[in-house]
Amino acid sequence: MSLLTRRRLLRRAALSATAAGAARVGLPGAVAAGTAAAAAAVAGCDDTPDPAPDGDGHGPLRFPPDFGWGAATSAYQIEGAAKEDGRGESVWDTFSHTPGRTRNGDTGDVAADHYHRYVEDLDLMRGLGLRSYRFSISWSRIQADGSGRPNQRGLDFYRRLVDGLHERDIAPMATLFHWDLPQALQDAGGWENRDTAERFAEYADITFRALGDRVPVWLTINEPKTVVQNGYLWGHHAPGHQDPEAAYLVAHHLQLAHGLAVRALRATGAKTRIGPALNLHPCYPADNTAEAATATRLYDGYENRLYLDSILKGAYPQDVLADLGPDSRMVRGIRDGDLAIISSPVDLLAVQYYTPIYVTGQGDTVSKWPTSEASWQQIYPEGMYDILTRVTGDYGPIPLTITENGLPCPDDLAADGTVDDAARIDFLRDHFAAAHRAIQDGVPLESYHVWSLLDNFEWNEGYQQRWGLVYVDYPTQRRVLKRSAHWYRTVIRNNGL
Ligand code: FCB
Repeated sequence: MSLLTRRRLLRRAALSATAAGAARVGLPGAVAAGTAAAAAAVAGCDDTPDPAPDGDGHGPLRFPPDFGWGAATSAYQIEGAAKEDGRGESVWDTFSHTPGRTRNGDTGDVAADHYHRYVEDLDLMRGLGLRSYRFSISWSRIQADGSGRPNQRGLDFYRRLVDGLHERDIAPMATLFHWDLPQALQDAGGWENRDTAERFAEYADITFRALGDRVPVWLTINEPKTVVQNGYLWGHHAPGHQDPEAAYLVAHHLQLAHGLAVRALRATGAKTRIGPALNLHPCYPADNTAEAATATRLYDGYENRLYLDSILKGAYPQDVLADLGPDSRMVRGIRDGDLAIISSPVDLLAVQYYTPIYVTGQGDTVSKWPTSEASWQQIYPEGMYDILTRVTGDYGPIPLTITENGLPCPDDLAADGTVDDAARIDFLRDHFAAAHRAIQDGVPLESYHVWSLLDNFEWNEGYQQRWGLVYVDYPTQRRVLKRSAHWYRTVIRNNGL
């Protein structure tokens, strides 16, 4: 692995280690333009029939008819009920129960108790007017040990959830894997073991056969890159390893698993759609030097093309393979035919956008914009436009959905029972506007899921960061619509800003 890559990895490790000391930002400076319009929209909350037009003075921004306004969650982050109805342990149970791994020792044992409160949560979604709900299925509820006979009680839970969505006219969008690998598979080598990809295909097949016809859109693997980087490079996510060689072998096996799952869905004869969920980061040179441009190109390879080129073009990017080196575990782990599996045709691409990355000539990263409570997140709505138009430009008119975008805020439940998250409204407004501009410029974006529906277990950050449109009062599990939820309801009702 090159010197540049080593520097980059070390630098990112240092960054993630300081996450706990992240600066808190109230109203993001980067989105100051248009704040007056946002304030006008906020003032009306849910009763405003027609929110103020966008701050650019060009009038209301209407989205295409049937645009899929939605919200997203994931199983381990909201469900709780960690030991119920035959659920087995996942790597996140193990990780969160290991002292020192999560903030305050928080775990997902109870989380937002969604497993028991899903009916209330479905009603809440209906009340917001959501048209699409993106959730994930817990593998260890379906197969406690990650293989073998399915657990009917686990399948029944998701069947009830999916039926409840249909009853409320909300389109289900299900992710098969949002990081909660069954612990038994981790004990057998986890994603370093090629066999895990085969086990994933088996689990996918079971799930498709049980729910396939009721779920119009399936997503295979959530953010493979985050498993690679957070789980295997920096180690602040499960399984907590710091091993660059293993990390990129994991990148290959995760993508192999994705491709095998696509094939498994096709083999069932289902007519429903499927695609990957990738977190994409627009990468920009930090300055005008040729060195920064070169370093940014490679950085982009690791952040974006390592997943986009393989899945959508059938080839890993040569610059990344060369940087990893022919003797790397990843390169040695690629077998004939793997890329054909990985690039099995998909129906759509799910994009998750949170932050841009600025790269120096030395391969370090720097911040140019205010960060949110999550130190890794710079607030830059233009990055949404850039990444969407770039994907369409480089990979053709594949339908796109945004499956995550959102902001953590220091939300407080006031004495009058309200949660005033003005900064989240500004953030969403400016990102919606950027997405709208991308659509105007020809990007086939069909839906947008805010992260997140509910406050939840934010991985190693525990419950401190609140990302929800809906506030969860954890001691009582009471749900309270934040101001942003009221505002979002109006956006949905008006199909735009
Ligand atoms: C994404 C994850 C999601 C949540 C948000 C804040 O990377 O997919 O589970 O943690 O970040």
